[in-house]
Amino acid sequence: MVEYIRGVAEKFGIKLSEEEALRVEKELNRWYKPSIKAEGEIIKTRDGSFTLISKEYGEPYHSVYAGAVRECYEKFLLPSGLIDKAKKSKKIIIIDIGFGLGYNSVVAIHHLKNINPTIEIKIYGLDKTFPSKLPPMPEPYGNLHNKVWKNRDALERQGILIELIEGDIRNTIDSIKDKADAIFHDPFSPFRNPEMWTIDLLREITSKLKEDGVWVSYTSALCVRKALKMLGFFVGESSPVGRRRGGTVCSPTIRFKLSLQEERKLKISPYAIPLKDKNLKTPPKEILIRYFSEVVKTTGT
Ligand SMILES: C[S@@+](CC[C@H](N)C(=O)[O-])C[C@H]1O[C@@H](n2cnc3c(N)ncnc32)[C@H](O)[C@@H]1O
Repeated sequence: MVEYIRGVAEKFGIKLSEEEALRVEKELNRWYKPSIKAEGEIIKTRDGSFTLISKEYGEPYHSVYAGAVRECYEKFLLPSGLIDKAKKSKKIIIIDIGFGLGYNSVVAIHHLKNINPTIEIKIYGLDKTFPSKLPPMPEPYGNLHNKVWKNRDALERQGILIELIEGDIRNTIDSIKDKADAIFHDPFSPFRNPEMWTIDLLREITSKLKEDGVWVSYTSALCVRKALKMLGFFVGESSPVGRRRGGTVCSPTIRFKLSLQEERKLKISPYAIPLKDKNLKTPPKEILIRYFSEVVKTTGT
């Protein structure tokens, strides 16, 4: 393993000693493993709604502690600013990244239509593969959730257009030519699903934001916040839900701010460097090896 790590680091121009490679291996073992063992099962979350455990990533599709539906509403819809925007807009465009079971979109559609029944909603839902198992959503979302998967024509008649785009987002993001009012960024966590959080992909994704658009995610990871800052965005923290730290929001023009303590972490933590994937083709594990090699080099031996 140590030789493999040294070989990968070398590809990115980083020379690791054996001791440094061992430290990278330790970090990999710490992060790159399933957080939950109930693979492929449907489980109940804290607010009573259900979610799925991913076989591939060993992570739930939603926070078990926050509750699946609560997470969609409080971690994605509220911080996106869409509730206010819907009151005065004729049309809202959302890019839903890591569409998964579609919960984030369903919760958004339900509430935005309640606020403004005539509003048109266009959703681009991107995912590597759409899940075959779909836990049912509780009311008042159940009927809408069914239609998202089984009867999108009926939704179109209500002014709700959903375009699902399947494939590794690194190959599909470019097909979106619209600019979005909000981007929901909801892959698995950065150290298990690293190709989704690199500065290079975030540059592509955020280029699809309107000037007053908002990118929203549940993560508070330093590597992600640092990347967004380096891309020139105003970065802020959303309210914590089901855990101590809040998620992240950013915008080209809305003046979000992080606390001084968070800003300090971004300046001094060795983990506050972006994940990188220059040609958007790097295997996920190599993205992580490069990152941890850079972290190890920053901290010294
Ligand atoms: C946490 S789940 C999303 C939950 C979803 N937002 C919902 O409300 O049901 C993460 C999703 O990211 C998708 N994903 C992971 N890697 C991807 C990639 N490289 N390209 C596109 N989608 C990816 C997974 O297939 C999974 O559906």
